[in-house]
Amino acid sequence: MELPEPQAGPEELKVRMLAASVNPFDRKVVDGMLRSSAEHRFPMVPGTDGAGEVVGSGERIFGTFFHRPVGRGTYAEYAVVPAGNALAPLPDGLDPAVAAALPTAGMTALQLVEALGDAKSVLVVGPNGGVGSFAVQIARAAGKHVIPIGRGDSLVEADALIDLVSADRSSFEANARYAPLAFNTNYASSDSAQNFGMKGSPETLVRLASMVLDGDLSVPISRRVPLREATGVFAGHGPGKTVIIM
Ligand SMILES: NC(=O)c1ccc[n+]([C@@H]2O[C@H](COP(=O)([O-])OP(=O)(O)OC[C@H]3O[C@@H](n4cnc5c(N)ncnc54)[C@H](OP(=O)(O)O)[C@@H]3O)[C@@H](O)[C@H]2O)c1
Repeated sequence: MELPEPQAGPEELKVRMLAASVNPFDRKVVDGMLRSSAEHRFPMVPGTDGAGEVVGSGERIFGTFFHRPVGRGTYAEYAVVPAGNALAPLPDGLDPAVAAALPTAGMTALQLVEALGDAKSVLVVGPNGGVGSFAVQIARAAGKHVIPIGRGDSLVEADALIDLVSADRSSFEANARYAPLAFNTNYASSDSAQNFGMKGSPETLVRLASMVLDGDLSVPISRRVPLREATGVFAGHGPGKTVIIM
């Protein structure tokens, strides 16, 4: 739908969006799953991750556009973002669609792998999605033996577990029996140390962009969808990331 251009408030940047990526968080917002935990603003524009050009300065940036209330997101021609968010310069030579695919999934994957410490082997449950596809690559690059667990695969014992799928305690606990060190991204564990929450930072974004430019991290984009067709992005996606192109 056509909406007035958003206006940047104090400490906010107005950005002409070039690309936005789709995260499960966006679908959860649209499904109303988070309505009791955060104020929502209507008409709602979903979208947390993106890349674009700052109106005024022309600087190209990418990162997380998360802010409260929820609903002024990146699936739009223009978005506003708090200047203090996890944002980094978009390097020359990095496709804005690739940069838009990185923030939430890439930062989560990088920080999860760092949390594994010296673990030599790691099970990754949900290895083909956004976080999983990055975590598998980053863990392998760190010298770990990665055991991807797709649908229907049986778990085996390992030093660590990254569970990106379990959404209830019993499912996660069943998986966590296979590894002494276990993390879940859906807050399904009764042990808060196992519930992993990504902490966004500009430094982490810069590292991810360098990894991509150096050829050490590939960004699997399964679909590039024009903004006018973005209503279909939650209908399921292939492996990797879906990116909306403005
Ligand atoms: N806590 C945090 O900070 C944080 C940060 C980022 C993400 N998350 C959460 O972490 C989860 C994963 O995020 P994501 O971006 O990777 O999502 P995603 O791109 O949707 O990927 C999820 C993957 O899991 C696969 N999958 C679903 N059920 C499975 C099963 N039973 N066994 C094996 N694989 C299965 C899916 O395959 P299909 O395509 O076949 O369904 C998909 O490839 C989401 O719930 C997200 O909300 C949390």
